[in-house]
Amino acid sequence: MDFFADTAEINEIAELKDLGLLDGVTTNPSLIMKSGRQVFQVLEDICSITDGPVSAEVVALNAQTMVKEGKRLAEIASNIVIKIPLTLEGLKACRILTEEEYRVNVTLCFSANQALLAAKAGATFVSPFLGRLDDIGLDGIELIEEIRIIFDNYDFETQILAASVRSPLHVKDVAIAGSDAVTAHPSVYKKLAEHPLTDTGLESFLNDWKSTGMKIV
Ligand code: E4P
Repeated sequence: MDFFADTAEINEIAELKDLGLLDGVTTNPSLIMKSGRQVFQVLEDICSITDGPVSAEVVALNAQTMVKEGKRLAEIASNIVIKIPLTLEGLKACRILTEEEYRVNVTLCFSANQALLAAKAGATFVSPFLGRLDDIGLDGIELIEEIRIIFDNYDFETQILAASVRSPLHVKDVAIAGSDAVTAHPSVYKKLAEHPLTDTGLESFLNDWKSTGMKIV
């Protein structure tokens, strides 16, 4: 399962890369706004750090302008994936762009039927938003399970990119459900390595070792 960093902060992306945990990046208009930087500069900087897919989101509402914006964003680097909202106009734009061999990430997906439409429109990725479903008392993981079954039933090549992922438990559950990729804030991935028994076990090994007086190097 690929790990994408859901942030527009360059230092956070670079740190995840150093840890060997970076397969790509997702951004959205809110993350760009939070960075306080100009959209093209941020995306250029991100693409200089990773060769993996970097999702850059359009902001138009009609297909024609979405296509125009998508193509402009794709000029930034060859690894830009055009992120398009899951609306009828967005699906239309997705089909046009994928027919021209651009990669598209259809975002703001909240149902299995929406994911089916994204796959039929030729999307490279579809992004079901788990956390936002959980926020309103619905089951985000069940959505990933449903989409996995549908895509496997019809051999759709569209990859499931579990989004709005906020905890290590989400990461484990989407991995079990067979998501192709996950996007989360880098802090979530760092937490995956944590376990109190690892900490106490290491402390005890090192105390015992110290008492031997031996050295390895
Ligand atoms: C995904 O592509 C989105 O940028 C993101 O995962 C949204 O997450 P949020 O619901 O935590 O804002």
